Amino acid sequence: MERTFAIIKPDAVERNVTGKVLAMIEAGGFKIVGMKKILLSRAQAEGFYYVHKERPFFGDLCTFMSRGPVIALVLEKENAIADWRGLMGATNPANAEAGTIRKELGVSIEENTVHGSDSPESASYEIPYFFNQLELV
Ligand code: CMP
Repeated sequence: MERTFAIIKPDAVERNVTGKVLAMIEAGGFKIVGMKKILLSRAQAEGFYYVHKERPFFGDLCTFMSRGPVIALVLEKENAIADWRGLMGATNPANAEAGTIRKELGVSIEENTVHGSDSPESASYEIPYFFNQLELV
């Protein structure tokens, strides 16, 4: 079994499609082992995305991620990291395949509805950024 970290981003919470995303997660065979709704401060968003701090979109990304609440999730299944990235679809919804979350619900490359860890190393930074051990059940 593998765990990955996921976020339902502010664009999705604002549009009331949290339930649609959760339904796609459950239909995809993921077990939700952690879930919380949280409003990130700008500094907390910057800390979460620190690997992107030199990228030109970093400032806008952190503004977006702290403009409203998000749902933070830990998902468990075999091959969870790769399978969650597959279910999310390409970063830019315009390039995402049919049936993926970003194709169905994404708005733009920034407001792309969901985040997922891109590697075991990312997951091991991102999961404890939001959750302690007692919250993963
Ligand atoms: P995410 O998987 O959360 O990781 C970094 C985020 O940066 C990415 O999804 C996008 O929403 C956002 N982003 C904004 N602009 C770009 C861009 N030009 N290239 C890649 N990611 C971008």
